[in-house]
Amino acid sequence: ARLPDVLRGMPKAELHMHIEGSLEPELIFQLAQRNGVSIPYASVEDLRRAYAFTDLQSFLDIYYAGASVLLQEQDFYDMAWAYFERAAADQVSRAELFFDPQTHTARGVSMDTVITGLHRACADAEQKLGISAALILCFLRHLSEEDGLATLEAALPYRDQFIGVGLDSSEVGHPPEKFTRLFARCREQGLRIVAHAGEEGPPAYVWGALDLLGAERIDHGVQSVHDAALMTRLAKERVPLTVCPLSNLKLCVFPTLAQHNLGALLDAGLCATVNSDDPAYFGGYVNENYLQTFAALPALHAGHAYTLARNSFEGSFMDEAAKQREI
Ligand code: ADE
Ligand code: ZN
Repeated sequence: ARLPDVLRGMPKAELHMHIEGSLEPELIFQLAQRNGVSIPYASVEDLRRAYAFTDLQSFLDIYYAGASVLLQEQDFYDMAWAYFERAAADQVSRAELFFDPQTHTARGVSMDTVITGLHRACADAEQKLGISAALILCFLRHLSEEDGLATLEAALPYRDQFIGVGLDSSEVGHPPEKFTRLFARCREQGLRIVAHAGEEGPPAYVWGALDLLGAERIDHGVQSVHDAALMTRLAKERVPLTVCPLSNLKLCVFPTLAQHNLGALLDAGLCATVNSDDPAYFGGYVNENYLQTFAALPALHAGHAYTLARNSFEGSFMDEAAKQREI
């Protein structure tokens, strides 16, 4: 088969996607109207034109504005269901979704509304689309550890509806050590641990995520190539890196996809995976990330495709028996 058909057709897990980042401009306008929320854009086209980012922060400002249209439980369900339909078309059989409760609770939306809507969509994804789905609660690192601790307390009544926690938002200036106590509490609750690190921030943040937070996966992690000792450790421990090529391109982490280091990470023996991060904002769902990256990096061939698909299941938090069936 042609390589693009292999990439499209192979079963895969998606381990790094923010559900609020799957909110398409059309759905933003639909929800704004339904909820009577005003947004500072005249049309879908006007909003899409604003998606020209220079770095992570320039994206986050628009991403948080887009999420302001989410008010009701049904809004969270509709957003997640739209993602699952796209994921099914991309042969995603396992999806671990990040969500940012603080973005919503700060606007007066309850934790119950957020988690109940998202969890109901996950249950339907399983039943109607055959996608195994799970939720990972992310703490916003630009906010305080105290705010994170209060968020954890508010979420614990729903402990059985999410499998883990992560750390996202503005990276530089908000190192992992800011959240050491919070993540210790999360580990006590038996939650799985991931963290964004080494997206724009230095390798020291990857070390911190591993050693201070207990991260089992690193989200992005592409800056790790600048630290040989870190690369050796990531390879030896097979710490999964959830890489998001189109995100890195749109946020100017790499000037072009041809300069992306995905091939270097794989060739160094790391458990790298391909993911969409915020597909509505970065120009493509997971298959588009595979297709464009393989097209830009001629060194990548079918062997790498197979490795990436296998890594995605290996790096997932599926139970071991289900994982072995996929691998
Ligand atoms: N929130 C949504 N997307 C993100 C990213 N790429 N980095 C940090 N926080 C995020
Ligand atoms: Zn992310």
